[in-house]
Amino acid sequence: MAELTGRICLIAGGTGAVGEGIVRAFLGAGATVIVPSRSEERLAALAGRLDPGLLDGLVPLVGDIGDPDDAVRLREAVVSGFGCVDAVVASLGGTWEAKQPITAMAIETWDAYHRSNLRAHFVAACTLLPALAERAGSSYTLLGGLSALLPIPFYSPVGINSAAQLMMAEILMLEMKESRVRINQVVCGYINTRERAAHAKPEWITADEVGAFCAYIASGAGSMVSGAVLRLGDRPPPECARPSMSPRCCGAACGCATLGCAGCSPGDAELDRAAAPCSPAHCSRSPAKSAACAAASRVPRPAVF
Ligand SMILES: NC(=O)c1ccc[n+]([C@@H]2O[C@H](COP(=O)([O-])OP(=O)(O)OC[C@H]3O[C@@H](n4cnc5c(N)ncnc54)[C@H](OP(=O)(O)O)[C@@H]3O)[C@@H](O)[C@H]2O)c1
Repeated sequence: MAELTGRICLIAGGTGAVGEGIVRAFLGAGATVIVPSRSEERLAALAGRLDPGLLDGLVPLVGDIGDPDDAVRLREAVVSGFGCVDAVVASLGGTWEAKQPITAMAIETWDAYHRSNLRAHFVAACTLLPALAERAGSSYTLLGGLSALLPIPFYSPVGINSAAQLMMAEILMLEMKESRVRINQVVCGYINTRERAAHAKPEWITADEVGAFCAYIASGAGSMVSGAVLRLGDRPPPECARPSMSPRCCGAACGCATLGCAGCSPGDAELDRAAAPCSPAHCSRSPAKSAACAAASRVPRPAVF
């Protein structure tokens, strides 16, 4: 387990599905954990889900880390209250269930996801990184999804903003490589969160495991991890060799056993693509999907750490 005793850590998005696991891991590692949220109720709900023995380390703060003025106010409250910030994790933005094509997406949806999934990351990074830049041993970890790397049909507001968010992180890593803050991006597939626990697959990583990984990066033991895009995938399925085509694909619906099909949930398609490199040969029963698979097979596959 990571050791963060005495560290001042801020988890942006700590009230969220994944954020809850991150907050739990940082508290368990001994950190003082500041969680900003736009909602007092969400902060209270988070506290109610944590082990009472951890609550002494939790510092809830009401405010919007995605609003430039509010973010400065939150940063100043932390610095004046604790003297510094050692680590930030930005687990901001959410999922999209509407499954519409880009051409049917309302401009309001486009704007809302730009705001929550990209702009909030930009504002948080621009506001908090200067407070970390001169602090020895500090870290800033951004969380994102595989849709940043793989084009997932009918999931565009998340995928497009995730891709831009990942690029923002990689540019920050380069622009700030001479500073003292270690900037890293964690890219996850499906996560077994509280909401998904009922239908989660055994191979999905949990929010607590994502939290433990982020706590490791923020700890002294993780001090060699800097400027990295770290991809967290499934663990191998229990007691079976993974077949060449995903068992989770939508074969029942369309018979093509292919990836990124509209019949799959976005998360399934996301994982299936990551698990099995796509081949147009898989898609011989559907010319449309064959084209989609051919496109998917051209996507550069990032290094897995
Ligand atoms: N859930 C998954 O299975 C999964 C899988 C892969 C990757 N991820 C990544 O994990 C991250 C978090 O996802 P999640 O599922 O935990 O999302 P979520 O449950 O919707 O939580 C989003 C969090 O962002 C916070 N937030 C604060 N300011 C915000 C602002 N201005 N705009 C939008 N959000 C703001 C929200 O806080 P308040 O509402 O309390 O202010 C909330 O805590 C995302 O980057 C996502 O790509 C998630």
